[in-house]
Amino acid sequence: MSSDHFIVQIESLIKDYGDGTSVRALDEVTLSVASGEFVAIQGPSGSGKSTLLNLIGTLDTPTSGQITVDGVDLGTLRGDALADFRRAKIGFVFQLFNLVPTLNALENVMLPLLPYQRGLGFKLEARARELLTRIGLEERLHHLPGQLSGGEQQRVAIARALINSPSLILADEPTGNLDTKIGEEIVGLLRQLNQEQGLTLVLVTHDAAVASQADRIIHLQDGRLLDEGT
Ligand SMILES: Nc1ncnc2c1ncn2[C@@H]1O[C@H](COP(=O)(O)OP(=O)(O)OP(=O)(O)O)[C@@H](O)[C@H]1O
Ligand SMILES: [Mg+2]
Repeated sequence: MSSDHFIVQIESLIKDYGDGTSVRALDEVTLSVASGEFVAIQGPSGSGKSTLLNLIGTLDTPTSGQITVDGVDLGTLRGDALADFRRAKIGFVFQLFNLVPTLNALENVMLPLLPYQRGLGFKLEARARELLTRIGLEERLHHLPGQLSGGEQQRVAIARALINSPSLILADEPTGNLDTKIGEEIVGLLRQLNQEQGLTLVLVTHDAAVASQADRIIHLQDGRLLDEGT
């Protein structure tokens, strides 16, 4: 497989936090994720899972090593270019949904692109409606997050992550705050998006049943990659 088939390529990634008594959160991680792949990351608390996801998602910068996303070396991007890249390529889904409590479902989904509305080649509200409808929330467009169940809130968050048609979805414990059945529905939805739309999915989970949905499971321990299996 040539390198263009990898949407994420990580080479000797190191992340230290703090100075003096620093913590090495990632220790020489080398990893590639193929375009269209669904990869689950597992590992004990503190093993570096969120750190890895945040670095791939350009929310933080490495101490050393290289990350390439969709052919772009993240180390070459600064400031606005980094934010533009993140907005164009990446969608995030978090454990605590991170919806704005005072905005309804439709507004939450539109929010990431609201400042850029004029330059878009499509109608933002129509696209937000379409995404919410596709994931079964057409009856909940004008509900505030507090008026939605946990599973519904996570669906809204998934629609929000999809609003920019990202190439890559990064999900950190997306089912961690949901009961088992609803968690299964959410991971099933992500799996469906992965299979039907070829969306690449990198998902952190403590839950073996969730991880078993992935094409590949990666194990982190003390900031190191243990093995690679399926
Ligand atoms: N901002 C930070 N400053 C200092 N240390 C940090 C910071 N963020 C994480 N760490 C440390 O880095 C290590 C990896 O943290 P990380 O959040 O990546 O773990 P995790 O695998 O996501 O854990 P969990 O399963 O509990 O979410 C831990 O030792 C943590 O204490
Ligand atoms: Mg974490």
